[in-house]
Amino acid sequence: MSYLDDVSPGYGALPPRAAFSSDAPSLSLNGDWRFHLSPSLADAPPGIEQDTFDDSSWSTLAVPANWQMHGFGKPAYTNVQYPFPVDPPYVPSDNPTGDYRLTFDLPSAWLTQPAVLRFDGIDSCGRIWLNGTELGVTRGSRLPSEFDVGSLLRERGNVLAVRVHQWSSGSYLEDQDMWWLSGIFRDVTLLARPTGGISDYWLRADYDHTTGRGYLSVEVDGPAWLSIPELGILRASTDLPIDAGVVEPWTAETPRLYEGYLASDHERVPLRIGFRTVTIADGQLKVNGKRILLKGVNRHEHHPDLGRAVPYETALADVLMMKQHNINAVRTSHYPPHPAFLDLCDEYGLWVIDECDLETHGFSEVGWERNPSDDPQWEAAYLDRMKRMVERDKNHPSIIMWSLGNEAHTGRNLAAMASWTRSRDSTRPVHYEGDAACEYVDVYSRMYASHAEVDEIGQTTELPFIQCEYAHAMGNGPGGLLEYRELFEKYPRCQGGFIWEWLDHGIRQVDSEGRPYFAYGGDFGETIHDGSFVIDGLVFPDRTPSPGLHELKKIFEPVRISAPGAAIPTTQTHGTPGTANPAASKSPASSNSAETVAPQGDFDSPPPSTSPQAAPALPGGHPASSVSGGGDGEKGSLGAVDNLKVVVANHYDFSGLEQLSFAWKLEDEGVEVASGILHTPTVQPGQEVTLDLPKMPETQGESWVTVTATLAKDAAWANANHPIAWGQVNVKARQQTQGSREPREVPRDIGGIPIEAPKLDLWRAPTENDKPSDEETWRKNGLHRLQHRLISVEGGTTKTRVAPPARAFGMFVTYTWTGDETTLNLKVDIEPDGEWPGTLPRLGLRMALPKEYGNVEWFGRGPNEAYADTRQAAAVGRYKYTVDEMQTPYVVPQENGNRTEVRWAELTNDTGEGIRIEGDFEFTARRWTSEDLDAAEHTIDLTPTDWIYLNLDIAQNGVGTAACGPGVLPQYQLHAHKASIELTFTRLGS
Ligand code: GAL
Repeated sequence: MSYLDDVSPGYGALPPRAAFSSDAPSLSLNGDWRFHLSPSLADAPPGIEQDTFDDSSWSTLAVPANWQMHGFGKPAYTNVQYPFPVDPPYVPSDNPTGDYRLTFDLPSAWLTQPAVLRFDGIDSCGRIWLNGTELGVTRGSRLPSEFDVGSLLRERGNVLAVRVHQWSSGSYLEDQDMWWLSGIFRDVTLLARPTGGISDYWLRADYDHTTGRGYLSVEVDGPAWLSIPELGILRASTDLPIDAGVVEPWTAETPRLYEGYLASDHERVPLRIGFRTVTIADGQLKVNGKRILLKGVNRHEHHPDLGRAVPYETALADVLMMKQHNINAVRTSHYPPHPAFLDLCDEYGLWVIDECDLETHGFSEVGWERNPSDDPQWEAAYLDRMKRMVERDKNHPSIIMWSLGNEAHTGRNLAAMASWTRSRDSTRPVHYEGDAACEYVDVYSRMYASHAEVDEIGQTTELPFIQCEYAHAMGNGPGGLLEYRELFEKYPRCQGGFIWEWLDHGIRQVDSEGRPYFAYGGDFGETIHDGSFVIDGLVFPDRTPSPGLHELKKIFEPVRISAPGAAIPTTQTHGTPGTANPAASKSPASSNSAETVAPQGDFDSPPPSTSPQAAPALPGGHPASSVSGGGDGEKGSLGAVDNLKVVVANHYDFSGLEQLSFAWKLEDEGVEVASGILHTPTVQPGQEVTLDLPKMPETQGESWVTVTATLAKDAAWANANHPIAWGQVNVKARQQTQGSREPREVPRDIGGIPIEAPKLDLWRAPTENDKPSDEETWRKNGLHRLQHRLISVEGGTTKTRVAPPARAFGMFVTYTWTGDETTLNLKVDIEPDGEWPGTLPRLGLRMALPKEYGNVEWFGRGPNEAYADTRQAAAVGRYKYTVDEMQTPYVVPQENGNRTEVRWAELTNDTGEGIRIEGDFEFTARRWTSEDLDAAEHTIDLTPTDWIYLNLDIAQNGVGTAACGPGVLPQYQLHAHKASIELTFTRLGS
């Protein structure tokens, strides 16, 4: 048996210890190394460890890096299945082997000290030599290993050689759903270890929420002093534990860190100390005595050009983006991240579940036969992985739970990991989703439990319940977040969870014409692969937010702003409105007055960061309007409005609202006419107040007040004025118009602008959430190939029957055109004929107009796309984009870009000519058809046509999260039903 097939963790490495910096010398060995890739161990050159080995013909490769990202071999993606035979612990002989060599000199004076060589990550197995002497073999790709090298170092010409194998026995334990990428992908560092220095320490900083006092204890391997100047503490480690006095605790909302140091006579270690205590009490996970709600995401380490060698700047950008989007927690799926990421979580404030580098999911393909999790010969490897994570990361206040790994079924080795962890660290609960019976974990964890199931769990479970994964953010979606939030707020034991997942793992490629796109499984010629299942994040591979992230930000708002009695915008064009906000135990409302100031032109628009360009004044040719009734009709009377109220609810776990500024603005059909600040009194976590809005000036059209909460001052993670939350209150209801009712023929143009006249359309390019649930039925029903039969034409009325081939069911569709020279009205009546099985993707009309009318402005919800179950982040307003900007570039093209509750939309050319459409509709506008979108596999497959295809819908089906998890909730499903839509088309410009 070779060292590749040996199930042990490896050999030669030093015992694991904490990752920290100190004033002892260190030398980064990152940089360009000599590199040579062989197809197998047998083909690898002999003697690479020798000083005299000639590597001049080798290539150069950066360390850290994954070699497949730099032209050596190719990335490969599988989700569950191993890309090699399930034959543990053996791996194929065709085992790409990367040989690395680096020659380095030491800084002067180094030689007097002992030293260790530290590798922060080698995927999957490394054999290491220094100056011709073997140091050992390491496995555990996302875990550090250190080797004692003091006696081997020389002043000049040290030769470090590392042989890295793509596959090893360790690969069986690293079957995470991600790209298979190899190499020395994290830092390599030479660290001096001064005699009498601090080789390891564990500083525990507890917080007693009943007294507000902190308690310090330290475990250190020699005499040392602990100093925290701000607390007046200077103590010998032997005098600990101590009462640190009254301190400010660390939480994810208030990540207070105290600077200090731990020093021996020969080494000084800087510390950043966060006082906090994690407990499980009353069946709840608590920090500092309070139940916390995890508004989390799962984060893999991935970069579109660099793979898992993620630069520090990217990790920082991730943390800042998370904070800016109201995310408060991260699960480091499914391995410990680069250690610097945890420093960032401490500093900026994120609750962390630190997960061990362990997954054996591929054994599920063979009925879990020979799964290492329950095989004693693998116990050492399991324990070694856990120890290396816990010891490395134990000093981080942000880590509130240890996770044993992911999807490794269950078994004695996992139980052994849990028991060792508990004996080593009694201060943090143990998590592992695979222990469904909760035999050796402290929290009940599930993935993708449906809403109904969470509802049941909320009523029964004894332990805190979290969803370590839910709401699969693949492509367009996830839908149904609002209903999950309601459950997490309803049941104290349901403490939130972690969206799957933060980021699309696309790999940036360029086609033969130089056009960039993101690749996924199968794009590198893999024999077996799992396609686009690796593209399931809230941000695109280049970290651009997807609409799902905007929606998530809204759902996760730590302060909720709403009209009294309408805590969430629940109106929708189709289906049963969402259930009411369950905010149960709120304090009695108090009333406070708000202050009015003069209108400000530069009010920070509430919703997403991709805010539209400023809207111009009301468009010319806007027909005179009459007041109509509507949902908020009682406020629709003309004149100033002075009885408006807004509810502000604090959903932070620890913070008040002092760090936020509240402002309001009044918009008349999307144009700002007044604004001011809103004084908000102290509101404790879990409490709410009802505030009076100032008297609003008279407006002409439909008007809304938007109240926004922004950061009052610069925070570490965002500047002052960064938007946190918003809500809208209707001031004046919709104005509707009536044009001439003279019959007209089906038009071929609108005021001279040629069109393809609107026709019934039921099809959308299936989203990745549609695929496993509805797509099959839709195709079986023939919704993508409807046929239209003319029944009659009478005056302006055309009757048709629209139906799929080979099916008996259909729709009677009656189009009635009326109007005059400037304005055309269309009324469409739809009536199902026969029984339609399943849902419909959409119910509406498709038309087309020439490509030059690509500037779009609309009044409705926006600015981003929204669907029935993903529309909380869409605010009523006036928005302006081009057709191209309205496309969401999902890595796998699919239905996207829908705008909802639209009152009017205008499509114009660059000189302002075009068409205005009024009504009550949802719409998409694109330069290709739904069929083109459906056929495309990558963004570069979409080619603009000479037309803009416009879908004007009564409704679309919701999105759901069936790519992994529940489908569209019943209230968001679209079924064939009798329906009508009325639209008015007006020619704009000369
Ligand atoms: C889970 C798994 C994740 C990912 C997800 C689907 O089962 O833990 O790693 O595969 O499903 O994308």
